Amino acid sequence: MSLLKISRMGHPILRKKMKAVAPSSIATPAFQKLIDDMALTMLENDGAGLAAPQVHEDCRLFVARVFNDREDDENAEPAEPEILALVNPEIVPASRQIEEDWEGCLSIPGLRGLVPRYRDIRVKAHDRNGERIDLQASGFMARVIQHETDHLDGILFLDRMKSMQSLSFIEEFAKYHAKRERE
Ligand code: NI
Repeated sequence: MSLLKISRMGHPILRKKMKAVAPSSIATPAFQKLIDDMALTMLENDGAGLAAPQVHEDCRLFVARVFNDREDDENAEPAEPEILALVNPEIVPASRQIEEDWEGCLSIPGLRGLVPRYRDIRVKAHDRNGERIDLQASGFMARVIQHETDHLDGILFLDRMKSMQSLSFIEEFAKYHAKRERE
């Protein structure tokens, strides 16, 4: 596996609509390697998700860590991170509830901002085996999926913010805005 270079805001690929992936190409070694390389690059950079244009690849693919909103058991063995890879994802809201929460992006290093997202979504996509999947997500996982799917349409989290007032550098975010319960 290899670490990939991450594109940063200002690179034109981050503003393009990505091309759909032919389901028959998902099983190819090149595409499987891209998924593995993206997963490694995401984990090494401590990201929650990573989309293909962020590694200069024009295709509708992202990887994300699998999150549960419930608190992890402190005594549990640290588990191998579970990684979701979605190809050609399509999102529909599963409720009308909108929640604002903090987001960052590996292509916009050093910043955090409050972004409104659907709380509950349903996603149709192909998984890394080329199987059609249909999944439901809520809370932080739903947020990550919406953020990453936006990348496939050239949309960055800054575009989704209702106002720039919350935009913060990470140090100031940690000092003034990070939720107490996450400390
Ligand atoms: Ni991002």
